[in-house]
Amino acid sequence: MKFLKLFLLLFVIQTQAQQGGMWIPSLLKGMNETEMKNLGMKISVQDIYDVNQSSMKDAVPHFNGGCTSEVISPKGLILTNHHCGFSQIQSHSTVDHDYLTDGFWAYKMEDELPNEGLTVTFMVKIEDVTTAVLEGTATLTNEAAKQKKIQENITALSKSLPKENWQENKIRTFFEGNQYILFVTETFTDVRLVGAPPSSIGKFGSDTDNWVWPRHTGDFSLFRIYADKNNRPAAYSKDNVPYTPKHFLPISLDGVAEDDFTLVFGYPGKTNEYLPSVAIEQIVNELNPAKIEIRDKALKVADGFMRKDNAIKIQYASKYASIANYWKKWIGETQGLKKSNAVAVKKESEKEFQQKIVKTGKEKEYGTLLADFDKNYTEIAPYAVARDYFTEVVLRNTELLSTGYKLYQLEEVYKSKGEQSFNDRKNNLIAGLADFYKNFNATVDEKVFEQLIELYATKSPKQFLPKGLVNVNAKNLASEVYTKSQLKNYAGLKQLLTGDAGTVLANLNNDPGFLLVKELADKYSKEVAPKYDELNLTITALQRTYMKAQLELNTESRIFPDANSTLRVTYGKVKGYEPKDATVYTPVTYLDGVMEKYIPGDYEFDVPAKLIDLYKTKDYGPYGENGKMPVCFIGTNHTTGGNSGSPAIDANGNLIGLNFDRVWEGTMSDIYYDPSICRNIMVDIRYVLFIMDKYAGAKNLISELKLVHPKKNKPLKNKKLKQK
Ligand code: ARG
Ligand code: GLU
Repeated sequence: MKFLKLFLLLFVIQTQAQQGGMWIPSLLKGMNETEMKNLGMKISVQDIYDVNQSSMKDAVPHFNGGCTSEVISPKGLILTNHHCGFSQIQSHSTVDHDYLTDGFWAYKMEDELPNEGLTVTFMVKIEDVTTAVLEGTATLTNEAAKQKKIQENITALSKSLPKENWQENKIRTFFEGNQYILFVTETFTDVRLVGAPPSSIGKFGSDTDNWVWPRHTGDFSLFRIYADKNNRPAAYSKDNVPYTPKHFLPISLDGVAEDDFTLVFGYPGKTNEYLPSVAIEQIVNELNPAKIEIRDKALKVADGFMRKDNAIKIQYASKYASIANYWKKWIGETQGLKKSNAVAVKKESEKEFQQKIVKTGKEKEYGTLLADFDKNYTEIAPYAVARDYFTEVVLRNTELLSTGYKLYQLEEVYKSKGEQSFNDRKNNLIAGLADFYKNFNATVDEKVFEQLIELYATKSPKQFLPKGLVNVNAKNLASEVYTKSQLKNYAGLKQLLTGDAGTVLANLNNDPGFLLVKELADKYSKEVAPKYDELNLTITALQRTYMKAQLELNTESRIFPDANSTLRVTYGKVKGYEPKDATVYTPVTYLDGVMEKYIPGDYEFDVPAKLIDLYKTKDYGPYGENGKMPVCFIGTNHTTGGNSGSPAIDANGNLIGLNFDRVWEGTMSDIYYDPSICRNIMVDIRYVLFIMDKYAGAKNLISELKLVHPKKNKPLKNKKLKQK
């Protein structure tokens, strides 16, 4: 009997542990600590977040607003992904020093490279401010007025709440508007590039391997935070000194094994875990397929040119990667949602939810919620589809049109703000677009235009189609626009923008490219956007009530707030998976797999000669394991975009890896987390160290780190983890 109970308890813990979740670090005590310990965690939750003492959170800053990084030395050295530092690495590269191709290593601090505009932000303190933010909103019944008041309160509180003068107050909403939390932050702006492997390591596998397991990418780069003499944030100065962190992460050399506890700590950007089934149906059946088809066509055109012409390949490589990233993600997400029957599962839980409402006598408050969702989502559908076509075709994938849209906005600025603002913006555009045109090829773009306008004309909702696109011959229109529009090169653009506002606007309104954008944008902003915004506001309010109801009624399940770019903890285990019948994926990859994928000279799968030598001589130093070099591993941690660069931490609080991606079959975890196929992908920290040490010879950096062997020696005491 006792045994059975224990078994059941273990079973519950096992299954619960796999349910995903991105948790607020200051609230782990009641919510998660027991489960984390049951999964094998040896440190306490105060080691992760502590208001009074330094803790792990002091070693995990937000990297440039979109990625995560971690402090790994007492001298402010931080680690993040290669793809997070990509544009900095690129910006220092020239034909003579091509750091993207060859890598970059600062063997002395003087050689570290400053990066204008790059920021690293620490989270100092978390505090609930819900009551203050919602002050004076209870009586407001109009949703727009309510949101306006909330925004005003947030602005006022951000100014008035206590903080040091080098800090910032940021207030973010949680649980879809049911809770508001203050984050006090510190942002450092002198952040220098310290090291990066060549792209053939840091981006190995490129787009082909992106979102895919098994993976063999050494996706890391190193930076260092500099501060003023008082260890405070300061603009770049050669007198700045390396930042002394409140905490830095010790690094474990012991590696991982299946079922080991792991924790990933970082800044997940955005998830939608509490959508009603009708919204998911719309994503699966309408929105994702439309966006995928558009990008499919755009990518095929670009790929065709890139394969034939090396100059075009260089111009379009980075744009191609960024368009391909979410294209591939949406395909995986759609398939995953179908495979895991997310809609049916949600429908089932909605049935139970409806019964609970009746049982608890809450019909008046929540009784019509699901029906209201149905009604509003049905109503918003054509607007949402039209919005995606406009965004993807005009704003994102056809470059002449997206440039034209900037000029459309310029005309709007003139109408609403007058000549002075017009001139300011005009001059910014002229300066800002110089770089854009360097990587623009009108021949490529014309083909993209032809394909995407054809889609727009035939597949976007008919009622919002501008007259000029009804029964259009896309090929003829493309040839007309790309022959006559001055937007097709920088000289033409500058000419269009020469003169006073009257002249410029007259010129613009004579240009066929501009006129087409204007027709599309006018139609969109008059007939799609207002109704979309109105319905969306209603849906947002419903979503807030739905969340409140779930928090009240689903008391047996632990509910985590959707990601919102704030610091979160997710945890799980190192674990393989079975993506389909008769296919089993084990959780660790090795350098042998890099060599299996090796294609000499290929832009995705080339391997540097030095790495091949190290492989041949098995010169892995202390980083190898039984004569093999581990490269990546996967786990059940629930991550999303923004978690790139997040530390993967072991049971003892030591760094064991660096998060950089998810497996393709599991990318639907932003909407529905299925424990059987959702996995995050991490680089093994030993591969990072091996590349730094054996490949790059950066002993100077290795000597800054605190390397530990928790499994071989005794587990570290919590106290030892704290570095003052
Ligand atoms: N899929 C990862 C993420 O969403 C990595 C993207 C960068 N790598 C690439 N091959 N495009 O950011
Ligand atoms: N590569 C993603 C990023 O840049 C992380 C992968 C994911 O979406 O989980 O944040």
